[in-house]
Amino acid sequence: MKEQVRNLKQEILEKVKAIKTIKELGELKVEYLGKKGPIHALTNQMKDLSIEEKKEFGKEINLLKTETTLLLEEMKERLEEEALNQKLEQEKIDTSLPGTEFFVGCDHPLERIRTEIEEIFISMGYDVVEGPEVESDLYNFEKLNLPKGHPARDAQDSFYIEDDAYLLRTQTSPVQARTMEANQEKGPIRIICPGKTYRRDSDDATHSHQFSQIEGLVIGKDISLADLKGTLEVFARKMFGEERSLRFRPSFFPFTEPSFEVDVSCFKCGGKGCSICKDTGWIEILGSGAVHPNVLKNSGYDPEVYTGFAFGIGQERVAMLKYGITDIRSFYTNDMRMLNDFNRMEGGE
Ligand code: DAH
Repeated sequence: MKEQVRNLKQEILEKVKAIKTIKELGELKVEYLGKKGPIHALTNQMKDLSIEEKKEFGKEINLLKTETTLLLEEMKERLEEEALNQKLEQEKIDTSLPGTEFFVGCDHPLERIRTEIEEIFISMGYDVVEGPEVESDLYNFEKLNLPKGHPARDAQDSFYIEDDAYLLRTQTSPVQARTMEANQEKGPIRIICPGKTYRRDSDDATHSHQFSQIEGLVIGKDISLADLKGTLEVFARKMFGEERSLRFRPSFFPFTEPSFEVDVSCFKCGGKGCSICKDTGWIEILGSGAVHPNVLKNSGYDPEVYTGFAFGIGQERVAMLKYGITDIRSFYTNDMRMLNDFNRMEGGE
């Protein structure tokens, strides 16, 4: 019987080694450890042995059972691990394959310019305020020293809504009067007001019936034109480059006296003359001036005590200059090709 146990052990070992699949392993388990298997048969044979022999062989058979069970379990673990590794190998992700491209949105160029301008003025201590787009004639014109019949009203052909009382604002300047009136304590004012404006212009490459402005207003007790000049210089240099200089040309706006149109030295040619500056070396960027005494009076400020300056920046104009856009209409047509080109130019995806 000893011989039989040894041979069986050897046989099991070889068969286990040859197993390739979990299924085969299951079959082998039934074959050797099952009721009809050789180990069980050996146990049956023990009944004819003496007590001493029974003890001895009983031990050996039990050992054979345990060893076979362990052997099969080990093999099972190995096969499972192999199967898992194979699966992982097959399902491996190739990180070098190109991903699926999807479109990521970006800020519209006008929005970018607005944010940039806001950040420059916020860094100088300005507040950003907004005003209504549907405005009264009173704030859009009268309080700004443009009484009915004033010839300067013609330059801002307006969309009236209700008789002559309400209109779509033609400029962001009415926020000047609104801010001054809201400031009952008459403390200093330092604001910019970005927003949409409307005029009855025929749309072409340089005109649009709807466009955007950024109004600026500073009021205090010792505000001078030197402050205006310094402020606009900081703005122009941050916006168009540190080497820029400004030129103030006398002009006329009903709400400022004196008034100036402000030019920046050409950022393309540096002042030598090119197509952008039309060979003059200068590019007009905004209108400005000292707040007119009538405007201060109309909003409850004593012009003997308070002075101030104001300016109005055309947002589209700045964006066109800065990004080399030649047709103002391209801001509003939402042509994805233009927006994507712009985004790429600005370093987006
Ligand atoms: N509101 C003017 C316009 O639409 C722009 C402007 C010029 C605003 C001079 C100002 C200013 O505040 O001082 O043409």
